[in-house]
Amino acid sequence: MKKKKMKIKRIAVLTSGGDCSGMNATLRSVVRSAIYNGLSVFGVMRGYAGLMNGEIVELNRRFVSNIINRGGTILKTARSKEFKTTKGRRKAAEQLKKLKIDGLIVIGGDGSFKGAHDLGRDWGIKCIGVPATIDNDVNGTDFSIGSDTAVNVALEAIDKIRDTVASLERIFVVEVMGRDSGYLAIRVALSGGAEDVLVPEIKFNMNKICREINAARKKGKISWILIVAEGAGNAQDIARIIKKKTGYETRVTVLGHIQRGGRPTARDRVLAARLGAEAVELLTQGESDKMVGIIADEVKVVNLKFACQKRKDINKSLKLYRLIKTLET
Ligand code: F6P
Repeated sequence: MKKKKMKIKRIAVLTSGGDCSGMNATLRSVVRSAIYNGLSVFGVMRGYAGLMNGEIVELNRRFVSNIINRGGTILKTARSKEFKTTKGRRKAAEQLKKLKIDGLIVIGGDGSFKGAHDLGRDWGIKCIGVPATIDNDVNGTDFSIGSDTAVNVALEAIDKIRDTVASLERIFVVEVMGRDSGYLAIRVALSGGAEDVLVPEIKFNMNKICREINAARKKGKISWILIVAEGAGNAQDIARIIKKKTGYETRVTVLGHIQRGGRPTARDRVLAARLGAEAVELLTQGESDKMVGIIADEVKVVNLKFACQKRKDINKSLKLYRLIKTLET
């Protein structure tokens, strides 16, 4: 006999890992879709750390008023080592069971999804992931919430740097975030008109780059912006090499956590609305251990385990990388 799917009545939502713009817009979508569907919805404060401590509050429509335009996450977030242990996950599951919560929506990146997968496997909690990270390195989705905002925030900074680059005829090395992924760096470089970009996925040769700088100077090109993904190397070291090999004045800007903040772009808000609502829909259908993503502008569902595998394909980015090189001088 086919097992009847248990009807979900009470769900919880948390944000986990590095915050990003659009997490609040996702939360709003989850809360309002859940209430629209007749569910009770609970917010977990401070990610998995708060879940283990029972920091759980019931949410209503008003709780998520006026947050669609705010960066960060009003639920707060954390990176928890304890949740990676069996004991930690047991504590988390007990808190959910105590409140008779049967489904959990996790808004975060691949590390958070690994935790969600393990929680579901060990304790039968129905977990659905919504990808939200500036790194855009989650498998099974073209975009993660927050990545478009991060590109735009960095771009605003690059435009400002360009003013001084052009005035003082210097070489600027600008470091952007992205952990092991060059996604952000390549988009920032192309949209900001940078002359070159270094990413962890593609080998580079500093001698060649310095030769290109020298050749460009000879042709009258006096300013140069080099974007470095944090996973490709240290901007200070790279600037030192350029100064040593070319003799030109070189400066460094590390954009750092600036890229995690700011008003989410329209694109991130639309994605947040769509994926948040879909995550609730999946729980009402009795689904579990899944992530909702977006592929070719269609919402797609993949297994959490698949989503946790680091996205390795750089093919789409490669075309953009080559374009940066074509347009560099
Ligand atoms: O994963 C998001 C991210 O901003 C990465 O780009 C970066 O490497 C990391 O988090 C920084 O982490 P933290 O905020 O803990 O310093």
